[in-house]
Formats: sequence, structure tokens, C-alpha cells
Amino acid sequence: MASAHGAHRILVASNRGPVSYSLDETGELTPRRGGGGLVSGLSAIGPDAGALWVCSALGDGDREAVRRGVGEDGVRMLDIDADVHADAYNGIANSVLWFVHHLLYQTPLEPVFDAEFRRQWASYETYNRAFARALADEAAEGAAVLVQDYHLTLVPGMLRELRPDLRIGHFSHTPWAPVDYFRMLPDDIAEQVLHGMLGADRLGFLTRRWADAFTACADALVGGLGGTRVGVHGLGADADFLRARAHQADVGERMAALREQIGRGPDGERRRTVVRVDRTELSKNIVRGLLSFRQLLEDEPAWRERVVHVAFAYPSRQDLAVYRDYTAEVQRLADEINSRYGTPGWTPVVLHVKDDFARSLAAYRLADVALVNPVRDGMNLVAKEVPVVSDEGCVLVLSREAGAYEELGEDALTVNPYDVIGTARALHEALTMPAGERAERTKRLAAAATALPPAQWFLDQLHALEAPTAG
Ligand code: F6P
Repeated sequence: MASAHGAHRILVASNRGPVSYSLDETGELTPRRGGGGLVSGLSAIGPDAGALWVCSALGDGDREAVRRGVGEDGVRMLDIDADVHADAYNGIANSVLWFVHHLLYQTPLEPVFDAEFRRQWASYETYNRAFARALADEAAEGAAVLVQDYHLTLVPGMLRELRPDLRIGHFSHTPWAPVDYFRMLPDDIAEQVLHGMLGADRLGFLTRRWADAFTACADALVGGLGGTRVGVHGLGADADFLRARAHQADVGERMAALREQIGRGPDGERRRTVVRVDRTELSKNIVRGLLSFRQLLEDEPAWRERVVHVAFAYPSRQDLAVYRDYTAEVQRLADEINSRYGTPGWTPVVLHVKDDFARSLAAYRLADVALVNPVRDGMNLVAKEVPVVSDEGCVLVLSREAGAYEELGEDALTVNPYDVIGTARALHEALTMPAGERAERTKRLAAAATALPPAQWFLDQLHALEAPTAG
């Protein structure tokens, strides 16, 4: 029996893997390694642990890499049919499940669960089944499998049927919807998602709030958790990596360039900065952030010429029209603020849309205020990263709807993300906070933000899965 199984003792499954390939005109493939909590978490168990990361091929480069068999050790990319993947990823995961968990629908008109939705749902099932089969093939007897996120909600249930011997965990990097909102899904689909998740031995969430929301959905819709355990693991920032990376030469160069763009105020003093760094993601609330900054310039005109909103809004999910429209609205509003308030020597909003990690770190280091105002967010790592690398202390203006609020709320200035007047007031309070208090708060924020580094976050989940009954 055991000989029929695969060789891997620890497996991770996620839509986006740790590496992606680009294909140039000459047919050459270039790999690019990604970052994130899971990548550094997994490195904690070392290369000899025999771990395997199962992920999906996402673009032409990835598909070609799979066909040529040029993958990296420890990674298995699944070449799922491109149309099936598009339906599952764009259609269901990002346009339905993401919207449900982040409360993003404009409900008078959407969602509409029609025949097209059912067709896409069938692709979501196919895509989840491809992962379940690959994991079943690769896992050794009794192996631990850690399935990630809303893309793969059906995998635990499917895998349990194929391989009852495995220990299966699932971790959600998003919030979980409140019961009334979750119930927008057709009843059979809502139940399928919950039963899929409950195929796991253990479910992990970033905060108690999201874990409780899941439990409430399970209680209301499928009669409870059954034998599945639920735990909370609040992924923290990777302090050692961030501090080292933030002091490399390219970051210094970008700080100089940013300082040049920010410029000096009327009396020659250093201008203050309100910094934000996000994917251009509907839930990040970038537009209301800009409206709040505009409100600040209206309510407190003394800040004109003296403050700059440095906004980095990097491309995300551009296959979806609603993301393209949102990206255009961010650009339009930034331009409008600049033409309404700007002067020859002062650009109120410095917006960058090209992803550049070194420049993000540069902005973190020099920020006076960090604005993190999502309408809803699983955690928000920017809120945790800024205090860790800030040079002179940075005030965090933080949405109470971000998961990070649970750990950072006390030392941040917290806002209701829908209230632009309240957010403008918080920005003013942040900009006028005495340097001593700012530095003290930043120190405490950095300590809270690094309490659970990625390596420990990963190992805790693994150990909890190994322990048959504990937490
Ligand atoms: O949990 C949210 C998540 O899946 C994270 O992995 C990441 O922050 C983000 O969404 C990336 O989304 P995508 O893979 O669609 O670019």
C-alpha cells in the first residue's frame, strides 16, 4: 500500500507558486522567484525535509516550463487547461469568493448567480480536483498537507476521500465573511465550500475574528465544525530580512530620488509624507485614501505645500474589468488633486504604479505617516512592515477592518475606512504627533508586528497538525 504513494512528507498547495517563468521571443525561459510569508516560512524546514510545493502554471512561460520539464526542485506546477484556470481563478476565486469575504459587492446589481456562474463553478471544481489528485499522488503515507486560501476550498474534502491517511490543513489568508453575507452564495455552493474546507483536520486563520466568522457559518449552514479544529496564526513581518534588505544600496538610491520628488516646503523645511503601498486592489480603499488626503488639504490648509501623499499602487488582477476601472479611478483622482492643489514646486500626490520593492522599502524608511485603510483585509503586511524599517518613527493610521488591527490597534491611530472626514482628521493628528510619542509607538508596533515571524508561523501550523487533538 505505502509503495503506491508518493515520497513527500510535507506538501504545500497554492494557486500562485514560489516561482514563475517568463518566455522571451527567442524561446528562452527565465525563472523569477517570489517572496511572501509562505516562501520564507517553508524555508524554515530546510531543503532536506523533502517538502513539495504544488501550484498552478499561471501564464504562457509557466506552461512552457511544465511542458519542457524545467521545473525547480521541490515545486510541481500543474498545467491546468488555461480556460479552466481562467474560470476558476478570475471567475470564481477572484470575482466571487474574494468579493464575498471582503464584502465588495454593490448589492443592488450584483452578484447574479446564473448559468454562467454555474459553468465557471464546474471549472472551479475541475481545478480543485487537479490539485487534490496531484497531492494524492505525491504525498507519502501519513504526510502533512497544507492547502492555502480561497482558490482551493474544495481540496481538503476531495483529498480526504482520495487519501484518508493524510493530515490535512487549510489556511485562509483572507478574512472570512459574516454569515449573512456568506449566505448570498447559492445554498448548495455555500455548503460545498464549507464541506470542502471541513475535509481538513485543521483550519487556520489570520485572526480570531475571521476564525469565528468561519465557525459561525459552519454552525449556521452545515451543523458545525464536526471533527475539524480551528486555529489562529497571525503571520508577522520578517524583521531580519526586511532590515537587511532595506539597507542595501538600491534602497538608498531610491530614498534619494523620492526625497527629490517630495521636495522642500516654503521655509525650506523637509516636507512631511503620508505613505501608502498596496496592490491596486478594490479592498485596499486607495480611492477613499486619496479623498481623505484631499479632505485634509481642505480642512487644514496649513498643510498645503508642506505634505506629500506618496502612493504606490501596483498592478493587480488586470484581467478583471473592475480592477482596470479601479486603477483608472486611482490615477484620475490623483491627477485631479494635483491639478486642483498643486503648485509649480509642489506635487501633492506622488503616485507610482510600477512595482518596485526597493522603492517600497525606501518609502517605508522615510514615511512620517503610513496610511493603511482597507475596507477589509485578512492581515495587511504593510502595516507590520513599515514600523520595522522606519528610520525615525512613523505613525500608523490603520483601518479597524484590517486583520492587523487585532495586534496593532493600540499603538496605531485607528479609522473607520468609509469615513473620509474621520480619516482626514486622523492624518492631521498623525502629522502633528510629537516625535517622542511617535518613536515610542513605532517601537511597540515593531515588536507586535514581528511577534510571529514567518518561519515560526509555518512551523506552528505544522506542529498543530501533527498533534492529534491540541489547538
Ligand atoms: O490571500 C490573499 C492572496 O491570495 C495573497 O496570496 C496575496 O496577497 C494576494 O492574494 C495575491 O493575489 P494574486 O495571486 O491574485 O495576485
